[in-house]
Amino acid sequence: MSNALERLHDLEPSTEEFRAAVHAGLAQPQKSLPCKFFYDAEGSRLFEQICELPEYYPTRTELALLEAHAGEIARLIGPRARLVEFGSGAGIKIRLLLQALDRPAAYVPVDISREHLLAAAVDLARDFPTLRIAPICADYTQPFALPASAGVHPETTVGFFPGSTIGNFTAPEARGFLARARRLLGPGSAMVVGVDLRKDRNILVPAYDDAAGVTAAFNLNLLVRINRELDGDFALDQFTHEARWNDTLGRIEMHLVSRRDQEVRIGAERFRFREGETIHTENSYKYTLDQFRAMATDAGYRPEAVWTDPKGLFSVHMLRAD
Ligand SMILES: C[S@@+](CC[C@H](N)C(=O)[O-])C[C@H]1O[C@@H](n2cnc3c(N)ncnc32)[C@H](O)[C@@H]1O
Repeated sequence: MSNALERLHDLEPSTEEFRAAVHAGLAQPQKSLPCKFFYDAEGSRLFEQICELPEYYPTRTELALLEAHAGEIARLIGPRARLVEFGSGAGIKIRLLLQALDRPAAYVPVDISREHLLAAAVDLARDFPTLRIAPICADYTQPFALPASAGVHPETTVGFFPGSTIGNFTAPEARGFLARARRLLGPGSAMVVGVDLRKDRNILVPAYDDAAGVTAAFNLNLLVRINRELDGDFALDQFTHEARWNDTLGRIEMHLVSRRDQEVRIGAERFRFREGETIHTENSYKYTLDQFRAMATDAGYRPEAVWTDPKGLFSVHMLRAD
């Protein structure tokens, strides 16, 4: 392993936090579970499979945008930047920026999925052996500090938040996240954000309900994780995956639908489900360019540039903290 790969900064949420979130979410009139808990090792593996699906246009569209505009993004970022990636996953997209940047000073991948983060950091260290890499396993909705790496004196710090993961937040949550990121990254920093755009529901719904059933397995894996880590007894064949487009709120919703009246035990607690009742597991908000720019401005950023594909499916925004 390269010396430039630092030891993991480990702020992984505890099983107790997972238990508290599950119990609170299932006690609501509309049952819900936080989507950040999708990502155990299996959830991350399934997400990588989703990225390869023909219906899932966001990954290939964003990759093409980054490939086409990496030079311009790198010029706007400037030399010796420290990159902080939120929800770094397999770390594929950052490679396009790292290859284009002038002597990047350091890379700080932040992800809640510990094993996946470690594996991705090792892969990246192999391919960029002189790059200082400081992985942080953390929930980025909670406060955390950037590690001070010996010998690293960046000229600027840049946040990278691809994958339209920002769409998992409600608008107030997204504004709050951007404002916190701006404070974390500091004055003069920039933020590069991938944002999925509003489009026809006939494109959106299949992207979250693919023919091969991979997104269904990803959604149901949350119940598998509860069974394993919290001593639950969800019967997996008694819940079905559903993706819905909510036109009023401009979001795709993922639900797990109970196929019958049933009772589920998690540890010592019991939860009742009526037939057809759902657990709301994820939102994926879709924005217009102007909606997202207005939100970034509210969070204290100056929208500096935006790149979109010819079909207007996806956008990559460069925001500046003056
Ligand atoms: C939609 S995937 C995107 C992955 C990758 N950035 C991409 O663009 O393909 C979301 C990523 O964010 C991570 N993640 C989700 N919620 C998180 C949270 N609250 N804190 C930290 N990481 C989170 C997941 O583990 C996953 O790697």
